[in-house]
Amino acid sequence: MFSLLVRRDGLIEPPPMDGTDSHCHILPGLDDGAPDDETAIAIAGLLVEMGIHTVVATPHVISDVFPNSTASILDAANRFSALLSERKIPLRLIPGAEYYLEKHLLQRIAKDDIIAWGKERFVLFESPVEREPMLLDEVVFSLKSAGYTPVFAHVERYRYLQNDYERIRELKRLGVRFQVNHPSFHLPKISRRGELARLLYIKGLVDLFGTDFHRATMNNCQQKKRRTGMRRTSSPFSRS
Ligand SMILES: [Fe+2]
Repeated sequence: MFSLLVRRDGLIEPPPMDGTDSHCHILPGLDDGAPDDETAIAIAGLLVEMGIHTVVATPHVISDVFPNSTASILDAANRFSALLSERKIPLRLIPGAEYYLEKHLLQRIAKDDIIAWGKERFVLFESPVEREPMLLDEVVFSLKSAGYTPVFAHVERYRYLQNDYERIRELKRLGVRFQVNHPSFHLPKISRRGELARLLYIKGLVDLFGTDFHRATMNNCQQKKRRTGMRRTSSPFSRS
């Protein structure tokens, strides 16, 4: 029986990440994430401290902002994996990418120039925050036709989905998997992002967790152990 822990502040206790971070900007120098090796090593140390043993490194791929090629990402992943070993940091790094939903992504899919991971060939993609892009269904269809599993990055973040649960269910039916940023579970009830993350989790719609860390900071996730005052309930969620 599915049961949840509710804290004194009325939020559910964030679910465990089960050792894998599926979305992280840890690779140095490729995007707005870690700018250098030492920052990346600090992120790695923080992940290990959180119980993470595997991280999917997902630098942004945006044609006119972060035009990272497949080769540059794979090279950076190899080099940084070697550095993790050298520093004896127990973190396995898998190369990935966070593809921006744009025409350029369709061209990459057509050329099979995509970094996917896992048996399911997961491909992480993101969209603009405010409005649903026209290309969303086409990208999903193209990825699936090419044998990939589309994973929508931090799905709780998009304003056009925060009030459209039906569209969320529809995307799920189309075969989209949902990645939620774990720090979102710590957001207060007034946060639509936090509320959608919790709703998705309670409805069993979260497929992958990520930190989306860009720096080694806990500012947004507040992973403090506030375990006092928790109680069990089968229906803790209320949409206020
Ligand atoms: Fe990201």
